[in-house]
Amino acid sequence: MPTKKLFQGHDASFDVQPFSRNGPLKPLFCTDHGALFEGDCVKILGKLADECVDTVFADPPFNIGKEYGTKVNDNRESTEYLEWCHSWILECIRILKPGGSFFLYNIPKWNIQLGNFMMEQGLHFRDWITVDIKFGLPLAGRLYPSHYSLLYYSKGRHKTFHNIRTPIQTCRHCKGEVKDYGGHRDKMNPKGVNLTDVWTDIPPVRHWKFKTTKRKANALSTKLLQRVIHMSTDAGDLVLDPFGGSGTTYAVAERMGRRWIGMDMESTDVIIERMSDDDLHYHPTTDVLEV
Ligand SMILES: C[S@@+](CC[C@H](N)C(=O)[O-])C[C@H]1O[C@@H](n2cnc3c(N)ncnc32)[C@H](O)[C@@H]1O
Repeated sequence: MPTKKLFQGHDASFDVQPFSRNGPLKPLFCTDHGALFEGDCVKILGKLADECVDTVFADPPFNIGKEYGTKVNDNRESTEYLEWCHSWILECIRILKPGGSFFLYNIPKWNIQLGNFMMEQGLHFRDWITVDIKFGLPLAGRLYPSHYSLLYYSKGRHKTFHNIRTPIQTCRHCKGEVKDYGGHRDKMNPKGVNLTDVWTDIPPVRHWKFKTTKRKANALSTKLLQRVIHMSTDAGDLVLDPFGGSGTTYAVAERMGRRWIGMDMESTDVIIERMSDDDLHYHPTTDVLEV
């Protein structure tokens, strides 16, 4: 996909005002495809119109005592954390179009409870995606935590789903196929196998310069966001991510020709810097994106 020059401030052509609920919206930064706000997501979401976004992707703080900056408290009582999550989840559901998709990335301890809450609000469960990445350290008397949960819901029957195929896995050394497909191998699609709900191929982001030098934004892999956005949107659709971090969702949406609305409570300098960079720190993958 060709890289595109981004424009800051008044030159950018994305108009966020049609998505306002009451009064003018004041983004800090715009590109041709998106608008970025700085502030508390609950307040900013409250200013967005009903049923205007096609996909919500949320990767909130996990309440594990991480330091994001001076404004975010990532060490709350469990009930307080869950109540806070309920407040922005309710706003996201209100803003989501009928048939739109809602992805929630968190540790299993919270997603099992938040997923139940989302179903109580009438969302339709589609998948619990297991993202196989080790986190934390092994603890005595506990299993070694090695996956995140990516919940996938739709608001009523989903309106968009595009399939993704992953190449048939081969051994790095002998180049032979890793799995034995038995008598079915010759009937398999040469483009690869349907993406499963267990993702073992999402790389941890260690290399990106902002992860260590600016603030620890917990950047996700662009591969994960490319999957989410491809599965659930068409070109021109609007993606909302209330927890910008390093701006992975916005960078991928921009590169894939989707519009986006984003925000973060801490400084968004890191996102603006990323969005102003021509390569957008986007890494092509071997996924086959079917249309
Ligand atoms: C886990 S990080 C998101 C990382 C992001 N997905 C990425 O790939 O870079 C969570 C982010 O939420 C932000 N945050 C926490 N509380 C917030 C709030 N109430 N409103 C907006 N942003 C908030 C934090 O500052 C942090 O950058």
